[in-house]
Amino acid sequence: MSLKPKTDKRDRSKSGPGFRKEAVAYKADFSDLLTLEEAAQKTGKTIHNIRDYIQRERIAKLNMEGKPVKRAENGELRVSLKELQAFLYLVSQRDEKHHRAGLHPELGFYNVPERERTRHVNRLHPYLGKFIPQLVEWFLSRYFKRGDWILDPFMGSGTTLVQASEMGMASIGVDVSEFNCHIAKVKLAHYDLAQVRKEILEAESRVQRFSDRLQHKDGQSLELFPEERLDSLKTSLLAECKSDYLRTWFAPNALLEMLYYRRLIPHYKNQDLLRIILSRAVRSSRLITHYDLATPKMPVALGVPYWCRKHNRMCLPIDNCIEKIHAYSNDTVRRITEFSKLRNSEPAIVVNGDSRNVRLNEYMPDGVLLDGIFTSPPYVGQIDYHDQHVYAYELFGFPRNDVKEIGPKKSGKSKAAQEAYINDIAAVFRNACIYLKPDAKVFIVANDRFNLYPRIAELSGLKIKETILRAVTKRTEQGNDPYQESIFYCVKMNNVNAYFKQKKS
Ligand SMILES: C[S@@+](CC[C@H](N)C(=O)[O-])C[C@H]1O[C@@H](n2cnc3c(N)ncnc32)[C@H](O)[C@@H]1O
Repeated sequence: MSLKPKTDKRDRSKSGPGFRKEAVAYKADFSDLLTLEEAAQKTGKTIHNIRDYIQRERIAKLNMEGKPVKRAENGELRVSLKELQAFLYLVSQRDEKHHRAGLHPELGFYNVPERERTRHVNRLHPYLGKFIPQLVEWFLSRYFKRGDWILDPFMGSGTTLVQASEMGMASIGVDVSEFNCHIAKVKLAHYDLAQVRKEILEAESRVQRFSDRLQHKDGQSLELFPEERLDSLKTSLLAECKSDYLRTWFAPNALLEMLYYRRLIPHYKNQDLLRIILSRAVRSSRLITHYDLATPKMPVALGVPYWCRKHNRMCLPIDNCIEKIHAYSNDTVRRITEFSKLRNSEPAIVVNGDSRNVRLNEYMPDGVLLDGIFTSPPYVGQIDYHDQHVYAYELFGFPRNDVKEIGPKKSGKSKAAQEAYINDIAAVFRNACIYLKPDAKVFIVANDRFNLYPRIAELSGLKIKETILRAVTKRTEQGNDPYQESIFYCVKMNNVNAYFKQKKS
């Protein structure tokens, strides 16, 4: 089946998928105002669900007079019951439509709030194109059991491995991009939490003092950074910055703050984790608009206000990095603490390599064969996975391996690109088959709009047992346009060797 994403010219970033228009009519109706608790009770939803609808602007945030507000005072936030019911009615109609289109009713995850979709370490660092943990959980819980070994040959930011760890399964993930492996490793590492907290907060407060001094704020930081020392520090930090990218995409103070943080990292034990905090802060501190964090084309001018489609008001480009360092330091401590309570001790192995030829036995315990695969390969011509984290490659100097990326955006979607894609993806699964048990289960999540996977399966020595269709409503941060994707449930062909001999002859 061709799974073409829907295109819609409307600007959805403001209003969501058309729900708010109908809803606005209810805003003046005074009598149906409810607190979040009351609204949750009346509609059978959770308070998190209601908050999520507000956050995504599906329903209005109202004050006690029923007026839409940006911010409600403590205890004064209200929603309109009629508006909420109208919205839920539209959602149920959409479910119905999806049901008729053959989409799996449970796999749309329509009512899972943002907070859950990004739970604990799943939002340790942004990553364009990851799947939600609920999808992985759904399949792992039905087709695998505790102690099984799961492979993700296109590991990305490590969602499969994180979920496997939560469910008591062992896992191994491979990715060609070193920075993606870095994100996954940091999510999956075991930490001394007290030490982590101490180091993160100390690094943050040292950058804060440096930042205060940069902005000529008085205080104890004067002792640490007298004028001459500050000047020579700035000069030496800038001398360490060889990257034109960094010099172009950041305000002067933001650049100095991130370079200062980078210099502090080697003094700590949890260096990888600090790098992830810094990288996340740096990503949000680029000279870009708030609504274009994922794929900005060029920097915007420092100090020049712009109309922000995300916040519906004039905004200014960010001129520092410390704000985000502060926000993400606390958030990181919270997220890894939360995951540490849920995870199990089964191995979670991260390999930086090319899945077409990586030798998995070199990383796994002797004699282990894999029980299955849960993975989402790159789509043809959709994303350049190294480029999406260019700021991190520039800041930390990780080696790049772009040429080994399968289906990169820069190669396009032509027939030739599709052919190359088929052969490359098939090479990955052929290689993976070597390490699978004979009865292993393979799940491939793909937006197969060019219908390439039947051939890929054949060339891989896999048989597609079942194709499950699901609606994808919130895959990336780039909006909420729903599209469909397939989950191919495959098994190894009987006697794969004989199959390949036959093909050769
Ligand atoms: C769709 S993403 C996977 C996202 C992942 N499911 C997650 O939740 O984060 C595909 C990944 O395949 C990786 N990739 C591309 N070519 C590869 C290759 N030859 N070997 C290993 N990984 C590769 C990309 O770097 C990218 O991270």
